[in-house]
Amino acid sequence: MSLSSSPVPGSISAAGADPTLALLTGGGDAPGMNAAIRAVVRTAESRGHGVWGVRRGYWGLLDDNIEPLTNRDVRGIIQRGGTILETSRCKPFRTAEGREKAAANLKARNVQGLIVIGGDGTFQGADLLSREQGVPVVCIPGTIDNDICGTDYTIGYDSAVNTALEAIDRIRDTAFSHERIFFVEVMGRQAGILALEVGVAGGAEEVFAPEKAADLGAFCRSIRDAFDRGKRGFIVVVAEGDGLGGAQRIADAVRKDLNLESRVSVLGHIQRGGSPTARDRVLASRLGVAAVEAVLGGADRIMVGVRAGEVVQTPLEEVIGGTKSIDAGLFRILEILRG
Ligand code: F6P
Repeated sequence: MSLSSSPVPGSISAAGADPTLALLTGGGDAPGMNAAIRAVVRTAESRGHGVWGVRRGYWGLLDDNIEPLTNRDVRGIIQRGGTILETSRCKPFRTAEGREKAAANLKARNVQGLIVIGGDGTFQGADLLSREQGVPVVCIPGTIDNDICGTDYTIGYDSAVNTALEAIDRIRDTAFSHERIFFVEVMGRQAGILALEVGVAGGAEEVFAPEKAADLGAFCRSIRDAFDRGKRGFIVVVAEGDGLGGAQRIADAVRKDLNLESRVSVLGHIQRGGSPTARDRVLASRLGVAAVEAVLGGADRIMVGVRAGEVVQTPLEEVIGGTKSIDAGLFRILEILRG
C-alpha cells in the first residue's frame, strides 16, 4: 500500500507479518487519527500480526478497497492531520445487505478482528457488523466533538480546541480595535463541549450550546452592562447545533437590542485539519496500543477510552447513542470571569 506521502528512500521495509487484523477510519476526520493508525500497525507488528488498511471508511469494506498497511506506510505520519486511510460517511453500510457484503470481504481475507476509529455513527455500524456477521470489533474514539460516552477525551478534541482558540485570540484583537461584538461559530452539531471549553479558554462573554437553554434577553443585558462599565470588544462562542440556528441567526436576533456593530465568523472545517497537539498524539498512541491488545485478547464490541487518566474498555452498548454530559460548572466559571 503506498499511503505515506514520502517513503524514506532506501529505508528497510517491514518484514510484513501476515495480516490478520483490519483497520479503518470513519465519519469526520480528526487530528491524531494518523497517530492512532501508526500505533495500531506498530503494535500489531510487534505481536507478529499484520494489518489490512481499509480505505475510505466503510466504503472500502464494500468496494473491497483493502490492502496491507505496513510499518513503512506509517512512517512520518504521527504529526500529520487527516487520515492516510481516508474516511467517509457510508449510507449503504447502514443496510444489512451492505454489512453482509463487507463481512464477506473481511472473511475472504481471514480477518480475525476489525479496529474502527471514529465517532458514534461509525461505532453503530461496527456494533451491527459484529452482532449480525460475527466480525469482532474494537473501537477507538476519534472526533473533534468529544461527545462519546465512556471516555473523557476523544482523539482530535484537544487539537480542535486549540485551533479554534488561536482563531478567537486573533478575532479578539480586531473586535477590540473596532468596538464590535463577534459571534464565532464552532463545530458541534449535537454537543457544545468544544464550544464551552473554547469559550472559557478564550475569555468569551457567552457560550451558546445545545445543552443550555438560551436567554437572549439576559444575554443582551449583560453585554450592555459590560459596555457601560467600559468594556470594548466582545466574543460570543456559538456551537453549530446550539438550538437557535447558529451564529448568524443569533446575531440577527440581537442586533437591534445591543446597539453594537456585530460580525459573524464561522470557523467550520478549519478545526478539523492541522497537526495534532502533543496531547492528541499521546492519547492516540495509547488507544492504538490498547485497541490491538484488546482485539488480540479476544475483546469484541468494546471501545477503548481514557477515564481519570487510565485506559479503560467500555461495551459498545453503553457507548452508542449515549449523551455525554457537559461540564456545567464551566458555564458558571464563564459567568464569574466575564469582565
Ligand atoms: O462529527 C464531527 C463534525 O466535525 C461535527 O462537529 C460537524 O457538525 C460535522 O462533523 C461536519 O461534518 P461534514 O464534514 O460531513 O460536513
